[in-house]
Amino acid sequence: MAENLTFTMIKPTAFKNNHTGAILKMINDAGFVIKAMKAMRLSEVQAGAFYEIHKGKPFYETLVQFMSSGPIVAVVLEKENAVEDYRTLIGATNPENAAEGTIRKLYATSYQQNAVHGSDSDDNANLEADFFFSKTERV
Ligand code: CMP
Repeated sequence: MAENLTFTMIKPTAFKNNHTGAILKMINDAGFVIKAMKAMRLSEVQAGAFYEIHKGKPFYETLVQFMSSGPIVAVVLEKENAVEDYRTLIGATNPENAAEGTIRKLYATSYQQNAVHGSDSDDNANLEADFFFSKTERV
């Protein structure tokens, strides 16, 4: 299992507001290398499966609706200490608590529409990357 990978999604609102380029620049400037990337639209079933761990929580249904409401960009990133460093770059899940200069502080519009997803562990980074990309889709 690779331990220098993380997975991110640029969420529908950030994509719709044309923040994809600015977010990718912040990612590259922070030293991450893009190993796989695609723009796509998730079905409700796919969004529900991706966030299955949150099933039953009060925000699950609206999260699934939101994540399947428009295009997203799925990205696998490589860097030493990728999971932790990426979580620092994006800031707290709730943008109200995100540090100045972080991706979520700059581009989130709400707790749910928080601009980007970031993996929370090496295990989940690998599972999430495999959810979106086959081996031949990665460089
Ligand atoms: P993400 O990093 O994609 O992981 C799970 C997502 O659920 C999270 O970002 C938010 O978009 C959403 N989320 C988590 N907790 C809440 C909450 N209390 N209210 C609304 N949305 C939430």
